[in-house]
Amino acid sequence: MTVTAAAPSPSWPEDALRLNAVCPYYTMFPLDFPLQQLVAHPQATRVLDPFCGRGTTLYAARLAGLPAVGIDINPVAAAIAQAKLIQVTPDAVVRLARQILESGPLGEVPESEFWQWCYEPETLQELVTLREALLEMTTPTAAMLRAVLLGILHGPRNKNLPSYLSNQMPRTYASKPAYAVKFWKKRDMQPVRIPALDVIERRARRLLDAAPLARGGRVYLGDSLETLNGLRQRFDLVVTSPPYYGMRTYVADQWLRLWFLGGPAEVPYGTHGQIARQPNQEAFIQALAEVWAATARRCSQGARLAIRFGALPSARTDPEQMLLASVKEAKAGWVVKDIRQAGTPPKRARQAAQFGKAGSAVDEIDMVAELIGLPH
Ligand SMILES: C[S@@+](CC[C@H](N)C(=O)[O-])C[C@H]1O[C@@H](n2cnc3c(N)ncnc32)[C@H](O)[C@@H]1O
Repeated sequence: MTVTAAAPSPSWPEDALRLNAVCPYYTMFPLDFPLQQLVAHPQATRVLDPFCGRGTTLYAARLAGLPAVGIDINPVAAAIAQAKLIQVTPDAVVRLARQILESGPLGEVPESEFWQWCYEPETLQELVTLREALLEMTTPTAAMLRAVLLGILHGPRNKNLPSYLSNQMPRTYASKPAYAVKFWKKRDMQPVRIPALDVIERRARRLLDAAPLARGGRVYLGDSLETLNGLRQRFDLVVTSPPYYGMRTYVADQWLRLWFLGGPAEVPYGTHGQIARQPNQEAFIQALAEVWAATARRCSQGARLAIRFGALPSARTDPEQMLLASVKEAKAGWVVKDIRQAGTPPKRARQAAQFGKAGSAVDEIDMVAELIGLPH
């Protein structure tokens, strides 16, 4: 059943796509994947992603003029995804940031060696103040400012105008404190003063100046199965990508962003409700099957379910067989229409490329199913 061709996706002006890149997420899929599904299913009216990550599917739906609902159990993912559905001006975001900073320092500055090396003291105080103020705020402008800050929290130092607030760091994931401190000390790389407001302003203008009209929808922070069972809407297109089998580091790798959202000032190890916490392949397949069944209960007849899935090489398993088994086990009326290799987007943009640390040759597939039978 495996084929390799894929439909071309529509092209959009580059500046309309910028908001989608507000903050990288460790295992994001390229925008092309949900856009292609929207093109292949033009009668879609409402889109769902039960493992939404940074909200790529939600942004594709916005571009296509449709409302969308996303669910994710990782607070970092949910905060980034939320921004994909919001319509605010860059001025409003900058005004809020300025207001917070001008009202004086808030919060407790973390003190370990990591923090002293990661941020210059004045920059760190600004960051702590913004964090503290935003913890209490729920407006769309606050949600956008939060996502902008998640995106500039850490990243490489550049020679010209700074784009990130931290000392040298990867932007996709946060280095572990001991490793980072050793890295900076060895190179005698002291953190430099970076005024938070300047970076926020530059970033907000870049992201929002040409953002397309928001089309509504919502992001839920929570377990997909539980959340789906509480939803009332119906969907006719689902585009999603569950955690790849063997991938367990979603939370620890995002620890600095998690701190910004109210988490501890250190790496939180543990599984945090991640579906990948299952002890073995059979349990993982069963957990996925339950999500596909709950998804079917929220979909109308004829709905499409498009899934990108893969497995880390270390998991030594066949993702195609696993995914087919999970859809079959759901016994929910999903009929598989197509399975193909997810190899057509440029390699750099592929989800597999995000797994640099774990090995590059991740086997990825795209599956499309249609809801034909009545779900039980
Ligand atoms: C492969 S990523 C999705 C990436 C997304 N397609 C994007 O472009 O950003 C899988 C997501 O599933 C989430 N997840 C894992 N277990 C979950 C659960 N039980 N309920 C909801 N989301 C879960 C993870 O936090 C992760 O963000």
